[in-house]
Amino acid sequence: MGPPGSGKGTQADRLAERVGVTRMSTGDLFRSHQERGTELGRLAEGYMKVGEYVPDDVTVRMVMEWIVAPEQAEGFVLDGFPRTIGQAEALDREAEGIGGIDRVIYMEVPRGELVARLTGRQVCRGCQSPYHVGFAPPAVRDVCDRCGGELYQRDDDKIGVVERRLGVYDQETGPVIDHYRRAGKLIGVDGTGTADDVERALSAATATGPD
Ligand code: AP5
Ligand code: MG
Ligand code: ZN
Repeated sequence: MGPPGSGKGTQADRLAERVGVTRMSTGDLFRSHQERGTELGRLAEGYMKVGEYVPDDVTVRMVMEWIVAPEQAEGFVLDGFPRTIGQAEALDREAEGIGGIDRVIYMEVPRGELVARLTGRQVCRGCQSPYHVGFAPPAVRDVCDRCGGELYQRDDDKIGVVERRLGVYDQETGPVIDHYRRAGKLIGVDGTGTADDVERALSAATATGPD
């Protein structure tokens, strides 16, 4: 978990690879539905482009269908889910039958840095890997290092929408952080420094357990 731009995508990729499990970002999944022009994609687009959350019933159904697939049997990393109390309760209920949620990682980054990260971000159209024009540029301009795909700026990374996303995060997701802190599952990680610094901090924190 973490606010927009805190590095969830960047670190979830590395974490899933390190522990050898699958990974899913709800935001990436919604965007891939939009690229394919599905009904779910069209529904989500209206909310995403203005920085609002997609309704819980739609989001929960999509995630639960993914979780129960055989590929996820060895465990998984979720990026950007749950982000409302309704989603957290649905996940807690569903995950109970498969051993529960082990850890909730919360990436902490000051607001000013979030805005700089988001407004300079570029994302791959093919594999959705995040880059940054200043902090994490690709080897060749506008081309993905991993898959050769074209890099683009997300519509919701324009400054007006970024501010709305940060406001929605505080209001809707703040209580979810408290929910997992009370459950003794929350691990706070300093999300500042380079992506390698954060990966080291995250790896050390997950080895020792919740705060
Ligand atoms: P989503 O795509 O999840 O967006 P988000 O939560 O706003 O988070 P971001 O993807 O913008 O940031 P990130 O934390 O992944 O950071 P990243 O690693 O890219 O969701 C989009 C929308 O979908 C939502 O607004 C909502 O409408 C909908 N949605 C999604 N999930 C939902 C849910 N559960 N319920 C309802 N609706 C939902 O890094 C950011 C930038 O910083 C990059 O450029 C990166 O290169 C750079 N960077 C990363 N780490 C560092 C570092 N250490 N130093 C410097 N730069 C860095
Ligand atoms: Mg992301
Ligand atoms: Zn790519």
